[in-house]
Amino acid sequence: MEVVIVPDAKAGGELVAEAMVRLLRRKPDALLGVATGSTPLPVYEALAARVRSGAVDVSEARIAQLDEYVGLPVDHPESYRSVLRREVLDPLGLGADAFLGPDGSDEDVVGACASYEKALAAAGGVDFQLLGIGTDGHIGFNEPCSSLSSRTRIKTLTEQTRADNARFFDGDVEQVPHHVITQGVGTILEARHVVLLATGASKAEAVAASVEGPLAAVCPASALQLHPHATVVVDEAAASKL
Ligand code: GLP
Repeated sequence: MEVVIVPDAKAGGELVAEAMVRLLRRKPDALLGVATGSTPLPVYEALAARVRSGAVDVSEARIAQLDEYVGLPVDHPESYRSVLRREVLDPLGLGADAFLGPDGSDEDVVGACASYEKALAAAGGVDFQLLGIGTDGHIGFNEPCSSLSSRTRIKTLTEQTRADNARFFDGDVEQVPHHVITQGVGTILEARHVVLLATGASKAEAVAASVEGPLAAVCPASALQLHPHATVVVDEAAASKL
């Protein structure tokens, strides 16, 4: 695992976007796994700026979703599919045909998880997986004590994560779904390159536990210690407990 400390969130966004650009120049149809949340926004902004300036062509790129709420209609503004359309696909000029994601509105949740695993494999696997991290060390929606070999499946959110995400639902925790579909930790570890981005002091403890703590299901992000090509990009605040 390599750890890169950058001065601030903007620098982190530039660094990660540049790594994506290098991959896309080598492999124009790369499958980029993307995360939601506030942390990756500077990456998406920096990548879109490079597309607008003509520095990179993303017309063949493909985008894979990490996780999704269960029970929200797909066109709900806070379904992760809608969020990724707004924050990633539209700014990059990519359409729905470039997108792979689980259907969180499918009544057959188990079937939706299995179909998504199959779709990822059929697409050749994720080339570059961008991750954020929860304050409790979760990646995707793999909450503490998730199996480190887990596959895409339904999970129940902790109250902490629902409270953290209430800001996207008018601050009303009651509107945050209880259940989600998430790529499993084992699924995430199959990506060829995994990049975890963390910024801000609120992530410092989770970063320290992931990078320097024991490999443990109680901190799902510590599973990245097993990955042959994992990069952790942190700003100085998020690195403060290393
Ligand atoms: C959610 C997402 C994660 C994300 C996390 C942190 O739980 N499922 O993929 O990493 O939030 O979000 P933020 O970057 O806003 O702190």
